[in-house]
Amino acid sequence: MPTRNARVLFNEVPTGYPEPGKTDKYDDSQTIDLENVPLNGGFLVKILYLSIDPYMRGRMRAPTTKSYSPPFTIGEPLQNNGVGVIIRSENPDIKAGDHVHGFFPFQEYYVTANAKAYRVLPKDQNIPWSVYLGACGMTGKTAYYGWTAYAEAKKGETVFVSTGAGPVGSVVIQLAKKQGLKVIASAGSDEKVEFMKSIGADVAFNYKKESTKEVLEKNGPINIYWDHVGGQTLEAAIDAAAPYARFIECGMISQYNVSAENPPYAPKNLTQIVGKCLNLRGFLVTPLEEKYRDEFYATIPPMVAKGEIKFLEDITEGLEGTGKAIYEVQAGKNHGKSIIRVAAE
Ligand SMILES: NC(=O)c1ccc[n+]([C@@H]2O[C@H](COP(=O)([O-])OP(=O)(O)OC[C@H]3O[C@@H](n4cnc5c(N)ncnc54)[C@H](OP(=O)(O)O)[C@@H]3O)[C@@H](O)[C@H]2O)c1
Repeated sequence: MPTRNARVLFNEVPTGYPEPGKTDKYDDSQTIDLENVPLNGGFLVKILYLSIDPYMRGRMRAPTTKSYSPPFTIGEPLQNNGVGVIIRSENPDIKAGDHVHGFFPFQEYYVTANAKAYRVLPKDQNIPWSVYLGACGMTGKTAYYGWTAYAEAKKGETVFVSTGAGPVGSVVIQLAKKQGLKVIASAGSDEKVEFMKSIGADVAFNYKKESTKEVLEKNGPINIYWDHVGGQTLEAAIDAAAPYARFIECGMISQYNVSAENPPYAPKNLTQIVGKCLNLRGFLVTPLEEKYRDEFYATIPPMVAKGEIKFLEDITEGLEGTGKAIYEVQAGKNHGKSIIRVAAE
């Protein structure tokens, strides 16, 4: 019997911010025969959750522009991390009813034989499946790997975390507090500021209402800056840096949607890097995977299960909402880890 297999396709390279329904296209023209579709030694997955992440904007580009992640292909489904449940399997290591985490196309059902690209999730961890896309998934790993590898944190130091209410920033704040640091954190709404205070930020502020430069002047100097924003925020952090401060360059979202109306901004005070002996370190989560994955899974999911790491989720119901969710993450309108609930179990 044919069952709908709706997809979300990459439709057009955006200029500036992505435009829902223009950059992407919801397509429900395809069907799949769930009982009889050939598996060729692989497995059939019903996709339950798909993650929406800031870096997806970088993949919405012309193939001629080089970057660290491959471009999406016009007319093909978007792709990202997801969680699904196995419906049928010909692979002895992956059984019907198992939940798997890995990369999926944005569609409802998927057949693959690439078992090594997926991790079977533990059933006994008392963690909702969606959280394997956030605190127990890529964004939690980004925070844990980057902090462990590069923060060189010492008790009593001061760290500034921008985008502190987001899925990466909120884990960074909680790791820093556990190590006894003073945390200054910024976000773009009063609701996000309240959340940052609730997870331990000592100084939490709304950068749309207060000047980042003034808050850092008053509460700094900072020994560590965890950057998600770049641009003027990075400039303010350089001004507030103590000698030998570490700058962990995790993201620069203020520069992802630049256009003629929203031009790029480069910090004007880079000479301070020399005088203050600053260490600016860019990093990506994927190259650190091999080194820190086992330690991460042994550490963070048990803390999440015990409520020791808190998080927010922003769940969109149905694949049709994908374009809007992508836009909202770029525009700062999401409140927590942005996730598409593709289907109920
Ligand atoms: N290096 C890596 O491997 C890696 C991996 C994952 C994520 N990242 C980066 O980490 C950062 C956070 O990711 P996330 O998943 O935790 O994102 P997120 O918080 O879910 O969403 C992005 C947030 O960025 C903020 N923002 C958007 N436009 C902004 C602007 N012009 N100026 C300042 N803030 C702006 C918004 O929060 P506010 O309301 O607070 O402005 C928005 O909610 C992103 O820059 C992302 O690219 C890097």
